[in-house]
Amino acid sequence: MALAQHAKRVAAEFDYGKEDLQRGVAEFIREMDAGLKTEVATLSQIPTYVTAVPNGTEKGLYMAVDLGGTNFRVCSIQLHGDTTFSLTQSKVAIPKELMAAKTSKELFSFLAKQIEIFLQAHHEEHYASHVERKRKGNEVAEEEIFNLGFTFSFPVKQIGINKGLLMRWTKGFDIKETVGQDVCALLQEEIDLLHLPVRVAALVNDTVGTLMARSYTSPGKTGTLLGAIFGTGTNGAYVEKLDKVTKLTEDKNAGSYDKSTGEMIVNTEWGSFDNGLKVLPNTPYDIALDEATPNPGIQMFEKRISGMFLGELLRLALVGLYKDAAVPLFKDENSSQNDISSVTHVDGNGPLFKPWGIDTSLLSICAGDQSQGLRVIRQTLEREYGVSAVSAEDAEAVREIAAAIGRRAARLAAVAIAAIVLETGRLEKSTGVVEEDVIDVGVDGSLVEFYPNFEEFMREALRGVEGIGEAGEKRIRIGIAKDGSGVFEILWKWEGIKNMGAIRYELGDGRKGVSGGGAYYIGWGMGSVGSGHVTASGN
Ligand code: GLC
Repeated sequence: MALAQHAKRVAAEFDYGKEDLQRGVAEFIREMDAGLKTEVATLSQIPTYVTAVPNGTEKGLYMAVDLGGTNFRVCSIQLHGDTTFSLTQSKVAIPKELMAAKTSKELFSFLAKQIEIFLQAHHEEHYASHVERKRKGNEVAEEEIFNLGFTFSFPVKQIGINKGLLMRWTKGFDIKETVGQDVCALLQEEIDLLHLPVRVAALVNDTVGTLMARSYTSPGKTGTLLGAIFGTGTNGAYVEKLDKVTKLTEDKNAGSYDKSTGEMIVNTEWGSFDNGLKVLPNTPYDIALDEATPNPGIQMFEKRISGMFLGELLRLALVGLYKDAAVPLFKDENSSQNDISSVTHVDGNGPLFKPWGIDTSLLSICAGDQSQGLRVIRQTLEREYGVSAVSAEDAEAVREIAAAIGRRAARLAAVAIAAIVLETGRLEKSTGVVEEDVIDVGVDGSLVEFYPNFEEFMREALRGVEGIGEAGEKRIRIGIAKDGSGVFEILWKWEGIKNMGAIRYELGDGRKGVSGGGAYYIGWGMGSVGSGHVTASGN
């Protein structure tokens, strides 16, 4: 059999057809409803208490940190008291050994240390005088303390605005001791040991930040329905009717929350949709991947969709073909059209043979390679993956399988979006005015940002879902939250800002603008934005 046929056969294993979609959406809706009623459902459906506010004043220094996967980010916002802010941020990669440390302390002391380094670098005066006062045993005035917003992108049972118990680790983190602990308290403890003038004041998931950021910056009057992340992990938070969240409304021990809007933002933790594999596709590669993770049987939806896993699926599929003597992948006989060298060489100790050796960016490269003879793919395989001088046929086989994995991920992502649009009944309401009928979805993460056509594949799937169809799909507006006009990863809400009106912003890269009225939230621009300057104007 020719290589192309083998590649087609493997690619077909990743097909996710119209009927699969339909069954997926029905099961997702069922699990959503179950999760709103009980604590013991696969879909966690966590009420976020997002309307609660830490007390703040219009003056002072505020901080935000973000722990979500690969990096830890720290930022500070100075509120000058004349309605202007300054914003500074830094980013550091999290050492791999800390992700699976023995104790919580190892990770959280590292995080606190980064906060200290940040304070020393950017707020030396404030930091030094605080430490000096502490040394002399003097009291620290309330206004000297930074209120810190903690974006912690893992499943947390939130029991208050700055209190949340870790339910389980995801995305390769595995520190057993932390499960069941209050992550805000863990961070606070380490901050206190360093005598830093910082108080953990608010806890949010990244999906909630995305939802608020997008809702705040999206065009028109319509609020955003859903904030979704398709990055290292995948998850979504959406606006639910409060009376449907019965596990909260009927819980006498629930913390206090604002009932006036009749709505509650719910963090679905959809990464764990269908852990029981009732409807999810399950190829031999999915099975092998799951077995190699620290949390087998958990986050089964995420393991088929998000950036942390797609590269590994591709690697497993390629290694399977390579090891099959009957398949001419990366074998000399296929190097006839090789313009690099005549003999393909595969490094047996190279990334291709190391678990997690292939990065999901290879899928994006494959999807984007328009060059003749797929030169970019061939060069990438050589430079980064230890497979040199591959033929155009080899590259085509890699491209075909990578495309199938990417397309399946996007179609699965559509299951979640479709289910939330249908469950919330948004399509049933129509004013007849096109702008008002928009169903707004904010997205963020490396896959939506860098995988070519991820959105188009999602849309194609959405059109195929019963109850959505072409007309429904047209009403769904999907916008990247970080490139929205506000450019803020929005973190928390505090009273001091609430009454100020529009936020003016001016970022490090020169972008400027005004983000809507009722400026409730403050955060930071992501990626290349760097430090910037934000001002809020009173009305
Ligand atoms: C994982 C986490 C979730 C987070 C998502 C995206 O699924 O469990 O909390 O929102 O990754 O970062």
